Amino acid sequence: MGRPTPSSSQNSLTVLDNRTGKSIEVVIEDNSIPATSFKALSAALEKGEREENETGKGLRVSDKGFLNTAVMRSEITYIDGEAGVLRYRGYPIEELALHSSHLETAYLLIYGSLPSSSQLKVWESEVMHHSVVHADAEQFFRSFRYDAHPMAILTSAFAYLGSYYSEANPSLQGQTLFTKGNPESLAVMDRQIYRLIGKATTLAAMAYRVRQGRSFVTPPTGLSYTGSFLYQMDHLGEENYKPNPILEKALDVLFLLHADHELNASATTVLQTASSLVDPYSAIAAGCASLYGPLHGGANEAVIRMLISIGSPANVPAFIEAVKKREKVLSGFGHRVYKTSDPRSFIVRKTADEVFKVTGKDELLETAMALHEAAMKDEYFIKRKLAPNVDFWSGLIYRAMGFPLDFFPVLFAVPRVVGWLAHWRQMMLQPGGVKIWRPRQIYVGASKREYVPVERRIPEEGSRKTPSQISHSGISKRTMLATFKGAKL
Ligand code: CMC
Repeated sequence: MGRPTPSSSQNSLTVLDNRTGKSIEVVIEDNSIPATSFKALSAALEKGEREENETGKGLRVSDKGFLNTAVMRSEITYIDGEAGVLRYRGYPIEELALHSSHLETAYLLIYGSLPSSSQLKVWESEVMHHSVVHADAEQFFRSFRYDAHPMAILTSAFAYLGSYYSEANPSLQGQTLFTKGNPESLAVMDRQIYRLIGKATTLAAMAYRVRQGRSFVTPPTGLSYTGSFLYQMDHLGEENYKPNPILEKALDVLFLLHADHELNASATTVLQTASSLVDPYSAIAAGCASLYGPLHGGANEAVIRMLISIGSPANVPAFIEAVKKREKVLSGFGHRVYKTSDPRSFIVRKTADEVFKVTGKDELLETAMALHEAAMKDEYFIKRKLAPNVDFWSGLIYRAMGFPLDFFPVLFAVPRVVGWLAHWRQMMLQPGGVKIWRPRQIYVGASKREYVPVERRIPEEGSRKTPSQISHSGISKRTMLATFKGAKL
């Protein structure tokens, strides 16, 4: 088959399938090519061969872990991983951290530009006014066990919250509720954005207080976003209680740094979920679940557990060797996109110094610094371009501020609600409407088989032996309960 003539702009690829000699021309737009172009290529089938395996189908683009697959055109966050650059809507993260606030930056991320002073006033007031939750929510929080992980509580709480707002549910109000882009649709969308950001701190504070055995606190008025959050967690009835302004500001900077990070695992999960046009509360709950894992937002918790297990700077060399042998994981290092330092980590490091002036230094700081130094000059980490990410230092700040270890991912999830909503809004309003996210697989399983009745079945070679069996005697049940979560007998 002859080669096609290249398009006049030359902005294309010519792809030759050596199996068949067929070639196709694929258009390059925005430095990307549509994966669907490759569907036009397929191997020739042998005579009589049916399309039971992948061979005869249109060529698939395989990308386990989305290493080089773009699923959205986005105007929200720009990262240059090689240069260590992070910008929200064009503004460098360093400038925003220095001059802006979390709520102002939230407006920027969601609506695309920095607000005027009157826009900011309305925005802040709407978000803060939507922070109160229904009194019944208290029962919901009290239904969790005292040792429930707060991310399990928060994830459930976002889904629970959605049950109050039938007006925000496309299943009840019509599929195009959020995609019309007309004033009514935008107003419904705005209200859910106010609610989700406003109530994120309230739900998180309730998850915190229920485990402390404290009564819940109504969100106060007249405080900043992080001031209100600290108040809701820490107020114990003192008159005129005010959170420490340095800690309030430090938390605000950390919130701003965590507000968005383009299409990471949790933002992608939110969009994947939202692509079915489900309500935003369910999509945010899904994002929360994805963030919770130790490779993502749970890394700040994992870093501290790692530092505790290392114990002291003297044990760092042995730990590094264990990482290199892949026996241990160095949490807080490495990033899918940054192949140089994570720009947020410098700001977090500076913020840590401010916090330590109030709280005193964390005893794990020396071990963290020794680990950082050792990793940064070790050939293994240099070769793989592994540097500290935002989670390496943030956990030390949260620990110094007295937050329980398992609460750290919550402190990541609350500000990330902003980024998730920015992506959700952008997706709902994208030109051409929403397309459901439905990837393809490469099927490598058995071809068609005939069902064999159980009495005639012989275990196949290589098949699983007997499934693991759990004994259900009274004795085993009592033992299981006694050792629940590693509790000593
Ligand atoms: N310690 C030791 N080796 C590592 C680490 C690490 N933390 N991270 C990556 N590597 C190695 C990895 O084994 C691989 O080596 P090789 O090429 O010899 O097989 C190489 O570096 C490339 O890494 P990768 O696994 O291809 O990287 P990835 O893009 O798939 O994963 C990551 C990125 C963040 C999941 C990973 O670096 C990691 O597990 N880091 C620790 C967890 C962590 O700190 N997560 C927070 C990320 S930042 C906050 C956020 O946005 O969530």
